[in-house]
Amino acid sequence: MLCFLHLVEQSTAQPEAVTLNGTETGFVDKPQVRPADPRFSSGPCRKHPGWDLSRFDVELLGRSHRASAPKARLQLAIERSAELLGLPSDWKLGIVPGSDTGAFEMAMWSLLGPRPVDALVWESFSSDWATDLGMLALPALNVLEADYGMLPRLTAIDPSHDVVFVFNGTTSGVCVPGLDWISEDREGLVLCDATSAAYAMPMDFKRLDVVTWSWQKVLGGEAAHGMLALSPRAVERLQNLPAPRALPKLFRLARQQKLIEGIFQGETINTPSMLALEDLHSALDWAHDLGGVEALWQRSRDNMAALDEWVQGSEWVGWLAQEAACRSPTSMCLKLESSIFTSLSRDEQQRWVKTMVGWLAEESAAYDIANYRSAPPGFRIWGGATVEAEDIRKLTPWLDWACERAARSITNSESENV
Ligand SMILES: Cc1ncc(COP(=O)(O)O)c(C=O)c1O
Repeated sequence: MLCFLHLVEQSTAQPEAVTLNGTETGFVDKPQVRPADPRFSSGPCRKHPGWDLSRFDVELLGRSHRASAPKARLQLAIERSAELLGLPSDWKLGIVPGSDTGAFEMAMWSLLGPRPVDALVWESFSSDWATDLGMLALPALNVLEADYGMLPRLTAIDPSHDVVFVFNGTTSGVCVPGLDWISEDREGLVLCDATSAAYAMPMDFKRLDVVTWSWQKVLGGEAAHGMLALSPRAVERLQNLPAPRALPKLFRLARQQKLIEGIFQGETINTPSMLALEDLHSALDWAHDLGGVEALWQRSRDNMAALDEWVQGSEWVGWLAQEAACRSPTSMCLKLESSIFTSLSRDEQQRWVKTMVGWLAEESAAYDIANYRSAPPGFRIWGGATVEAEDIRKLTPWLDWACERAARSITNSESENV
């Protein structure tokens, strides 16, 4: 079987109709129309439509971020980000180093310790958080796990415990279907990594205490900076129950049991990129002109609907997320279901995907749509608001074309081996 993997890459064999899932496919002609923008990466994500670096206001570049005008620009980004998200006015929002990873680690290391923690794990990032939780010497850690494509039993969390979860599992394309499983009267804090969900899905802030995200996802901003939002209960924990561990300056949110307010007013802990900040303002302008967060949600839903229409009619591909209600409209993960593919070993499947993805990139039809490295072999196609549904529709014939080409290569190589 292995030899086909070379042939997949180099095949010059004559076309021959092949069978995917018991049905003869016939030939798929090479599509003539390409997506206007082939960038479908799940991070950093595509820039917003109309993005133009030459139109950025660069007046503040090369100045100290602590001077009053640059600081005000940082503060304005915080205010605009909170407003767009619909963050309650009694929450605090700050720009922090290290992108979403920095923001979420900061929250875990600063807040967790007083109570047992329930961690929900169903893909790679949530699994990384559980690994770190294991280092925090918590009174107890319960890891509730599910495999790629599924969610753990959400109702198994204990409202007296702190809870750690990702709103959208970017590497499996599975998101929580809502937050009803979290009590509004809980005793514990709920820490939510929302990096690929913020601005893409409605969020009930009454059921959350910490929300983090990065600029590089739904808004198509630059990497390196993270957003950290804290509820009044989270602030109270920071002030009344200081973290039972030493923290480096980069993680410190409180000093002598007082919140460091400056972090939430544009006084970043260390030096921010003022160019990345302007890029964020550009994305916020675009979101505002579109009509706000509901327009962003709708664009994601449209992208998901465009892909779903094709998936429903396809014989060789299916959603990795088993339940429709948990299917992410941002990181849309697909698995290959054709019997030719499923009969291969995992390594062979991964090489099949890599080969298809290589062809699609060579053709400038799609960049960066392979599965995350630890996820099951398949595709991950970004459907956040900066992507156009029309581009998703133009991409799908290319996926059919690449899959048929791969299947034809394997079929021909097998018959040559008989
Ligand atoms: C759910 C989730 N958490 C954390 C991260 C890390 O984000 P960043 O690289 O912006 O820190 C990602 C990145 O894709 C993610 O999808």
